[in-house]
Amino acid sequence: MAVIAYIGLGANLGEREAQIRAGLAALGRVPGVRVLDVSSLRETAPVGGPPQPPYLNGVARLETALSAPALLGVCQQLERDAGRVAGGPRNGPRPLDLDLLLYGDERIDTADLIVPHPRLHERPFVLEPLRELGVEPAALPRPARPLVVADPEEFAALNTGWLHGRCRTGLVPTMGALHEGHASLLRIARQTCDRVAATIFVNPLQFGPKEDFARYPRTLERDLALLAREGADAVFVPETSAMYPGGFVSRIAVGREAEGMEGAARPDHFSGVATVVAKLFALARPTHAFFGRKDAQQVAVLRRMTRDLGFPIGLVECPTVREADGLALSSRNVYLSPEDRRAAPVLYRALRAAHAAHAAGERRAEALLAVARGHLAQEPRARLEYLELRREGDLAPLAPGPVTFARLLVVARFAADGPHPVRLLDNLSLGAPLDA
Ligand code: PAF
Repeated sequence: MAVIAYIGLGANLGEREAQIRAGLAALGRVPGVRVLDVSSLRETAPVGGPPQPPYLNGVARLETALSAPALLGVCQQLERDAGRVAGGPRNGPRPLDLDLLLYGDERIDTADLIVPHPRLHERPFVLEPLRELGVEPAALPRPARPLVVADPEEFAALNTGWLHGRCRTGLVPTMGALHEGHASLLRIARQTCDRVAATIFVNPLQFGPKEDFARYPRTLERDLALLAREGADAVFVPETSAMYPGGFVSRIAVGREAEGMEGAARPDHFSGVATVVAKLFALARPTHAFFGRKDAQQVAVLRRMTRDLGFPIGLVECPTVREADGLALSSRNVYLSPEDRRAAPVLYRALRAAHAAHAAGERRAEALLAVARGHLAQEPRARLEYLELRREGDLAPLAPGPVTFARLLVVARFAADGPHPVRLLDNLSLGAPLDA
């Protein structure tokens, strides 16, 4: 059955109009394609990309018996025939650009193709020619980015659709109160994956009875703005009752990775983290999931859980993002009083001092710990909770002997005697470049 499709036309190298006309003529010769109408061509400034000459742009209306992927394939072949080379800079100059904008009233969301074209509404050089051809863009569906989904089944279906479209899908689980650390997870996810979904869920299972669940910062409007800025495709914001309906009793048991450090200070914390992440993995079935290295023990627990339960998901551990003075970004930094905020970078100073001592040849564990402790002791506002050297990777206790490659982890409490102490975590790898 024939379908009406609209193709965006563009060129900014060579004989622009001649190339567009030749491309259209070639398109019209493809069996199953008839060019019905072409808008006027107009000169427009390039959007993004390196400095480059202006474009000539327009839109063509076709009638086609080809499927949308086949039509896309034809357009890409014609672009190559016109001399377009693959692998150039993103939004770089080109002798011919043929974008599939609309294909009947179908919505397509695969790794190779999104229809209606996702940036159609932002581009006057597409909107005006479409109007010329009698299409009112305001009447076209405008995909929300990020798509906000609260229903677990809908979130699962969305992800299944992406998987069927052969997308690599990235999941960025969060508890909201997003900051530049989360933004960096999203950017890394964007580089690896075709579609990226964040989750925002303050997970009650991972908070102890005396912890800050009730007052954990909830900043949904700002979070959505950050997710839009970072190009997240969707965000899952379930209610607690949707994640843990009445009668929910199952828990993931955690083991050696959860022993000591955070596991000792927060008894059911990692079981709660592993349970919610396993549930998110089961719903979304992402190809990749992204976690910050600031929570190094959490990453070790989640690696074990992913391996043990056989989730076919690549866990990507992302570097810690820091303020200019070295303080690791955390949603809980907003709790710090101005005085504590000024004192807090002592954690990173202590870690760096141990890193420098190690780089200078110190290999005795006690001596390395003493260097870090010395720095922490100079800051009375920071009450040290633990400082531990662990094996790099799985964070197992270090074997006796010289420290070659290890991770130094620290937690200190600020406002320790007040009603709301603030626990700050940080860690650094010794034997690797800073912040590796
Ligand atoms: O790191 C966090 O924010 C949370 O522990 C996580 C992984 C989103 C699970 O609730």
